[in-house]
Amino acid sequence: MLRREIFVTYMIVVLISLSITGIVTVKAVEKYFIKNAEESLITYANVLQSFLATELAEQQNPSIQFYRNIRELSKYIDARITIIDMDGKVIADTEKSPDAMENHGDRPEIKEAYKGKIGKSIRYSSSLETKMMYIAVPIKNGDRVSVVLRLALPLSQIGHLSKYIWGVILSSTLIGTIIAFFMSTIFSKKITKPIEEVAKAAKEIAQGDYGTKIPLSDPGEIRALAESFNHMAENLRKTIDELKEGKEKTEAILGSMAEGLVAVDNRCRVIMVNSAAEKLFKIKRDEVLGRHLLEMLRNRELYDLVNDVLENRKNVSQELKMITSEEKIFRVNIVPISGEKSSGAVAVLRDITDLRKLERVRTDFVANVSHELKTPLTSIAGFVETLLDGAYKSQDHCLYFLNIIKQETDRMTRLIDELLFFSRIETAGIAIKKTNVDLVEVVIKALSVLQTAIKEKKHKVNLDFPDDIKPVLSDEDSLLQIMINLIDNAIKYTADGGRIDISLEETSDHVVVAVADNGIGIAENELDRIFERFYRVDRARGGDVRGTGLGLALVKHLVKSLEGKITVESELGKGTIFRVYIPKV
Ligand SMILES: Nc1ncnc2c1ncn2[C@@H]1O[C@H](COP(=O)(O)OP(=O)(O)OP(=O)(O)O)[C@@H](O)[C@H]1O
Ligand SMILES: [Mg+2]
Repeated sequence: MLRREIFVTYMIVVLISLSITGIVTVKAVEKYFIKNAEESLITYANVLQSFLATELAEQQNPSIQFYRNIRELSKYIDARITIIDMDGKVIADTEKSPDAMENHGDRPEIKEAYKGKIGKSIRYSSSLETKMMYIAVPIKNGDRVSVVLRLALPLSQIGHLSKYIWGVILSSTLIGTIIAFFMSTIFSKKITKPIEEVAKAAKEIAQGDYGTKIPLSDPGEIRALAESFNHMAENLRKTIDELKEGKEKTEAILGSMAEGLVAVDNRCRVIMVNSAAEKLFKIKRDEVLGRHLLEMLRNRELYDLVNDVLENRKNVSQELKMITSEEKIFRVNIVPISGEKSSGAVAVLRDITDLRKLERVRTDFVANVSHELKTPLTSIAGFVETLLDGAYKSQDHCLYFLNIIKQETDRMTRLIDELLFFSRIETAGIAIKKTNVDLVEVVIKALSVLQTAIKEKKHKVNLDFPDDIKPVLSDEDSLLQIMINLIDNAIKYTADGGRIDISLEETSDHVVVAVADNGIGIAENELDRIFERFYRVDRARGGDVRGTGLGLALVKHLVKSLEGKITVESELGKGTIFRVYIPKV
């Protein structure tokens, strides 16, 4: 592009200067030629004038010899000679018969001559079809002009000469142009090559290749340009590296945050989310960037908070319930941000669902323990009161009440033992002794422990065991405890004459024991709470069923220490299935 421009400019300059030179030269030559012709005509005229003057003085009309003489002369000087009298009538002419010629009195050069001066004129002659130069001189008889002598010279030679000069100029222009063509090609290449190199390097840098360097050419402006360009590229590379590093650091920090982070601009469009937020809200960064916050989270409350921060530019901290895949509680901290060009807000969301749950479990636990201890204490206090009121006097009554008091204190002792047991296993863990355990045997053992209760409630127990179940490497005591507790629950929470199905099943790496009943079932919202200590579904509904609510909490602990897992499925009024997954090894 640049190369072409330089080339074209070069050529235009050469052509214009050559043309101007040509025109000026031709004009100068023409002028010189005309001047020369004029001077020589005047000289001839002056010579002829004196010659003619003597002739005219000697005789009134010029002789034949005179005509011959001027004709000779005319040939010699290559000019037409005409003699005109004072009326404008042609007396003699070297080319035409004077009779055939029109009156010449109105010709400008003749008019001048009549006044006694040398008349000059250059004009186109239609009879000769060429440009002519006319010089007229007066020939005087004494003081008076008697006739006018006119010399006429065709200027066709000037035309020839101009043509010739133009030819020379054109051919030299052509040669000049050819030379200029090559020179400008070479020069424009020489000038543009370093610039093109700079342009190429700039392009490479723009495409992200910051290592690009321009080779340094000979000293001069281009070298200076290349040097400062290289310097700039180096600075740019450093700055970009620094920026990249900073960005990576920020990203690593944000990525390692456990809290979800969402940043929005002042129009509430998402400009950043960290990976914790991606996980928490099951979103993809690329899909939400640039979108409106409401589009991303569909939570009006959060949006209102963010808006509040954007408007008032004040920090906000609040707890929010949000439904992601399940209901969760978040502590949301929102702070305004303001950059040089833009402002916005950053929301940091900490998932405190588990914390809140734990708090609830703890308060429930305290309430439940208190309740469990208070019940026997109340009845003990009641019976002691009755005894003090006089019942002690009757031995029978006394014995009866003391027995009940003993039962209640036993219950309290058992409860406290259980509590102590839990706190012990929580700190020290459960002692595990792994042996090859036949699960069928464990189930049978558990059933035999519970057989009285089964009989009492007239339940029917179905066993479904595959023949080839292999022993598992596990702790027998723990497994027995688990089975007793699950079957005990099935017995307790199923109306008389119920049905209990116990099955064993083998998967690739687990043996699954399932205990199913067709009892009262558990409501869905209670399912994840039944494993808490002292948690019992609807105490009133339990009626006469006695329990402390520790059974499943223990089961959960045991299963965990065996590295297995437990699941529960239940439907109110239909029944419940507990499944325990025991690893084979
Ligand atoms: N098979 C079941 N059918 C219906 N509800 C059940 C079943 N198993 C457990 N539950 C419910 O879960 C609660 C907790 O059970 P868990 O075994 O922990 O306590 P518990 O049986 O009440 O007392 P404990 O086992 O300590 O004597 C029970 O109170 C009961 O409401
Ligand atoms: Mg139980």
